[in-house]
Amino acid sequence: MSVWSSTVQRGKDGALSVGGADVCELAGTYGTPLYVVDEADFRARAAAFRDHFGAAFERHGAEVDVYYAGKALLTSQVSAWMHEEGLHLDVASLGELEIALRGGMPAARIGLHGNNKADDELRRALIAGVGRIIVDSFTEIEILDALARELGVVAPVMVRVTTGVHAGGHEYIATAHEDQKFGLSLASGAAMRGLVACYEAPHLRLLGIHTHIGSQIMSIEAFRESAERMLGLRAAFTASTGAELAEVDLGGGYAIQYTDDAEALDPADAAYAIADAVAAVVESVGGTWPRLSIEPGRAIAGPAGLTLYRVGVVKSVELDDGGRRAYVAVDGGMSDNMRPVTYGAHYTAAIASRESTAEAVASRVVGKHCESGDIVVRDVALPQDVARGDLLAVPATGAYGRSMASNYNAALRPAVVAVRDGQSRLLVRRDTIEDLLALDVAPD
Ligand code: LLP
Repeated sequence: MSVWSSTVQRGKDGALSVGGADVCELAGTYGTPLYVVDEADFRARAAAFRDHFGAAFERHGAEVDVYYAGKALLTSQVSAWMHEEGLHLDVASLGELEIALRGGMPAARIGLHGNNKADDELRRALIAGVGRIIVDSFTEIEILDALARELGVVAPVMVRVTTGVHAGGHEYIATAHEDQKFGLSLASGAAMRGLVACYEAPHLRLLGIHTHIGSQIMSIEAFRESAERMLGLRAAFTASTGAELAEVDLGGGYAIQYTDDAEALDPADAAYAIADAVAAVVESVGGTWPRLSIEPGRAIAGPAGLTLYRVGVVKSVELDDGGRRAYVAVDGGMSDNMRPVTYGAHYTAAIASRESTAEAVASRVVGKHCESGDIVVRDVALPQDVARGDLLAVPATGAYGRSMASNYNAALRPAVVAVRDGQSRLLVRRDTIEDLLALDVAPD
């Protein structure tokens, strides 16, 4: 497995191409920094989840829906791709919902998440006819029932369950342990009370249960454990009410490879392990198979994207141990990739505009923002002739790069461009100074 998306190649002239498009031409046309999405790779990863999970559950006569988690990277064209690939879409705000709908994703194939949804978000979701609203609190259950009554509709809901399975790369992206803001706890009985409340609410239709145990998870065991606990809760609900929950959603979290020495979680391995875990519980407690759903975001968008930066200043710094490190400053940084400063995330980088045979030296790629934590790649060996004007590519930035980008230091957020078969197509245009000034209210 490579850390680069599947169509990345180095051409005869030494420059990288992705999706058949030369990076120098892309940088010339769209400017830098630039997020480049390898469309074929993106679609293939979506299709792989659909096919592996489909096959693993088909052996038991059961079905799986794959919801692409739009928070990783959502544009209306991405929504259209996911629809074409037969996926569903998970959104976590009114904004994501509007982008998903604009791309033509049918509302019935959209799930709405959020621990603190506003009335406006819930109302819009009900009017649009979203397929499921994942309720996260008793307050939301009450509000949603009232809104549905007011609008004369019945709201399809799932209850977000906190299973106690702790997994994920960083504390801030682990979500199913008890001491955090999401969901209703399995251990305390709140999840069961929430289920009963939804079941009894006249304007809610209870579809099933949902959990998401965290993100960047390498442990198949964590997914298996989560599936077992969820199926156990489903059986307990049937035992106490006589009703069977039709659906179980196990969320996302499949880990990807960010650096050469790291590994990814194989979706096929996860699919068969989860199917086996579900089979074991269904066999022991009886009843029918639920319809399963999963919500991968990072594992679809992440590896399909790379960021192109233009190198500016290069400094050689002496370290305490007498060694040296090259500080390679690029024209972006924490405004286009929050992950290193937020989660201590590691990436790698390579010169993209040419090949170099110069000796590789200890280097750190940094941004142009006013903070020393503004690091793009903490440790990487780059050719010592890297110089102003070179293009640098950072792989695996397709997820949570553009979607978490900011205008810190009034930076212009980069464009997102899709490449495929030698053609490039804008997904999101670059911010302009006019955009910034349009938001700023000038003095009289
Ligand atoms: N489903 C739910 C309910 C979620 O909250 C998330 C992610 C996903 C699915 C998709 O998880 P994925 O497959 O992408 O791991 N900004 C952080 C990640 C935050 C994830 C939030 N929820 C990062 O850059 O690592």
